[in-house]
Amino acid sequence: MYHSQIIQILIFTFFFFYYYSFAANNNPSYNVQNFGAKPNGKSDSTKAFLSAWNTACTTTQPATIYVPPGRFLVRSVTFSGKLCKNTAITIRIDGTIVAPSNYNVIGNSGNWLKFERVTGVSILGGTLDGQGSKLWACKNSGKICPKGATSLAFYNSNNIIIDSVSSLNSQMFHILIEGCKNANLINMKISAPGNSPNTDGIHVQQSSTVTISNSRIGTGDDCVSIGPGSSNLWIENLSCGPGHGISIGSLGWDLQEAGVQNVTVKLATFTGTQNGVRVKTWARPSNGFVRDILFQHIVILNSQNPIIIDQNYCPDHHNCPTQGSGVKISNIKYEDVHGISASQVAIKFDCSKTNPCSGIMLDGVDLTFKNKSAIASCANAGGTAFGVVLPTNCL
Ligand SMILES: *[C@@H]1O[C@H](CO)[C@@H](O)[C@H](O)[C@H]1NC(C)=O
Ligand SMILES: *[C@@H]1O[C@H](CO)[C@@H](O)[C@H](O)[C@H]1NC(C)=O
Ligand SMILES: *[C@@H]1O[C@H](CO)[C@@H](O)[C@H](O)[C@H]1NC(C)=O
Repeated sequence: MYHSQIIQILIFTFFFFYYYSFAANNNPSYNVQNFGAKPNGKSDSTKAFLSAWNTACTTTQPATIYVPPGRFLVRSVTFSGKLCKNTAITIRIDGTIVAPSNYNVIGNSGNWLKFERVTGVSILGGTLDGQGSKLWACKNSGKICPKGATSLAFYNSNNIIIDSVSSLNSQMFHILIEGCKNANLINMKISAPGNSPNTDGIHVQQSSTVTISNSRIGTGDDCVSIGPGSSNLWIENLSCGPGHGISIGSLGWDLQEAGVQNVTVKLATFTGTQNGVRVKTWARPSNGFVRDILFQHIVILNSQNPIIIDQNYCPDHHNCPTQGSGVKISNIKYEDVHGISASQVAIKFDCSKTNPCSGIMLDGVDLTFKNKSAIASCANAGGTAFGVVLPTNCL
């Protein structure tokens, strides 16, 4: 062997071990392209994403799954925590994950990107493109269509972070948090047209300690909707519009139903939305409740129903017996809410005749209607007002 070859081998060996020890000291990173994903928007990358997930799950040290720039076509997929040993997986996305353009492919599966029983998953950056427009057109034409898939869903999971993710044109809900503890959604950008049906921005239910902050949501249904069994929610610095506002409900469909408790909505702006801050319940018997809610520092610009409690919610006028709603609503505080209503009734408390609302507090509310005075309308609503309250308080 020549002398120079021996030196080459020595150099190679040195760098091999240097690199290996360096890599071993760092957390593993799995690029989906190394598992066969293709950034061309056309090749099905579902299996590659799943392989990257399964590989990250085999280690116990914090791991990153990396999605590089480009468009990755992915079908409905479940990332399960069941056989996952890892409780610190970061999915870092620089590219776009795109749903099949034929809505039938994922439209009956309920969810597109689904996480189930995971702990410590963070999704950072990137765009999720649900390609929902053809499904909405089908739904809006009155034809029989698939229900559609929620773009990103977490079920029965703990310690979740979703940071700086954009969700575009979901078929159904953009994001669902159900049965989870400790989820932090921050810097989200969610968008779909104002006439896209059922495209709620973020739906939370049966979950506790969920924070949504510094986010912008414009969509065709509720920007944020809060279902039964939600507690300790914190929503701060949100801009909503177009959309149906922030909604607690619909609640009270079931006779036995978990309540909603301790929700704070702070520093939210609503622009051209159907509602601002809403609580809605079906007019049906139920043991549910809504209590300890604070809406603070809210700006409303041209919303049809800036402040509304609707306990006679019955959109299709069927399956709503004439009983009052069983949902007990108490301790709801509106503090520093101002702006312009797009309809004359700027405050509407339409509470249950069998379970009147109690402890509604208005403190510094100033809503006008086209430079004229707006109206407040109350039924079965009890509470108090402090400071300036316009329209004149009807409690
Ligand atoms: C509020 O959120 C927006 C993003 O929607 C962000 O640009 C802004 O800095 C946030 N404001 C504060 C005070 O954090
Ligand atoms: C209400 O929820 C917040 C988190 O959103 C939490 O910090 C606070 O302790 C909760 N309050 C009660 C009384 O549980
Ligand atoms: C409301 O008042 C502003 C000026 O204060 C005026 O420019 C605007 O045209 C008025 N709008 C209506 C609907 O009267």
